[in-house]
Amino acid sequence: MKIEPIIKGVVARSAHPAGCEQAIKNQIAFVSRSKMITQGPKRVLILGGSSGFGLASRIALTFGGAKADTLAVSFERGPSEKGVGSAGWYNNIYFKQQANKVGSKAINIIGDAFSETIRQQVIDTIQQQFDGKVDLIVYSLATGVRPKPNSDEMWHSAIKPIGETLTGASVNIEHDSWHESELPPASDQEILDTQKVMGGEDWESWIDFLINHDAIAPQCQTIAFSYIGPQCTHAIYHQGTLGRAKVDLHQTSHALNLKLAAFNGGAYACVCKALVTKASVFIPTFSPYVLALYRSMKDQRLHETCIEQMQRLFNSKLYPAPVVDGERLIRMDEWELKESVQRQVAQILPKLNETNFKQLGDYQGFKAEFMQLNGFDIEDVDYEQEYSLNELKSLTP
Ligand code: NAI
Repeated sequence: MKIEPIIKGVVARSAHPAGCEQAIKNQIAFVSRSKMITQGPKRVLILGGSSGFGLASRIALTFGGAKADTLAVSFERGPSEKGVGSAGWYNNIYFKQQANKVGSKAINIIGDAFSETIRQQVIDTIQQQFDGKVDLIVYSLATGVRPKPNSDEMWHSAIKPIGETLTGASVNIEHDSWHESELPPASDQEILDTQKVMGGEDWESWIDFLINHDAIAPQCQTIAFSYIGPQCTHAIYHQGTLGRAKVDLHQTSHALNLKLAAFNGGAYACVCKALVTKASVFIPTFSPYVLALYRSMKDQRLHETCIEQMQRLFNSKLYPAPVVDGERLIRMDEWELKESVQRQVAQILPKLNETNFKQLGDYQGFKAEFMQLNGFDIEDVDYEQEYSLNELKSLTP
């Protein structure tokens, strides 16, 4: 069979193995010619390491100067009679192949990072492969659900405004179309549940778990990713349920910073730029802003993708020493928030509508990045190649 893109709404239901492999190689090539990371970590645990910022961290830390060994946890689908599997599944496989070629360890654990079983597997692996300790923990999970500990129930996040109904548009990637919608304000329960899923509680419980298992190396750092954005995004993000969860994450970074001070280490929330990822395309009414932002940042030659953000984070803002703002946040969104960038966004965004969003906004770039996340539309990939299910199943992460 040939592997074709299958997109439902804003979700990719197929992925191209050779495209994922090429995307990993392209990212490795990028970090290899970038400013190197100095005094970086050697043993890194990445929670959510198969796509987006987590995968980009992994590539940067192994190939961008630190030569780190990595252990990544992710929740991905392998090939089966139902489909070829997810891009993250293939990213894990091809990252590991490339890392092993240069003598770096790359261990993939696939399963639910919220479960006790996976925690135990992580600690066993750290003991067996990393001399019992890690120097950096990257917390990069993005999910809509979190199981309640010792229960069969789940918390579900609800991406909604708080206090007022929000009207706005979202883009449908499957049909290249624009849809206006109304989002009612979140209930108090939805606000709390979103905080449970996307806030800092699970990050803190992971660090506590690692401390209790004596797995924290001297000078160990931990980071998690956040977003603040300009005023025009605040109703859906910063002042909505997601923003409440992120504020909780920021507060958690301070609590964890105190805990890791005992190891001469630290904990930081890194505020990143808005980017197309599997998780971000899901945020209702957010895509028009991303279309305007991409147009503006590309015009001003300031556009970065996940890999550029992560290489810059590790080579300039976390190592050799953390660089923080007045609220102890690491700011990777300073180019997004530049006055010149936001001035251009403010000119484009109010004009966008269903007839012109592909011309005025950078829909082409937005969609290309989405396709590339799933291994499609990448140069030098043979999309005519035939695969058998057995052949795909023989690739193991
Ligand atoms: P992503 O969807 O590309 O990656 C999420 C990762 O989490 C994947 O590796 C996935 O397998 C893993 N995962 C999800 N549920 C899991 C589970 N139960 N167990 C194990 N692994 C699981 O997401 P992205 O965009 O890289 O998000 C990472 C973080 O960055 C999030 O906290 C997000 O809010 C933040 N962020 C994202 C921005 C964006 O524009 N994409 C901007 C600023 C922050």
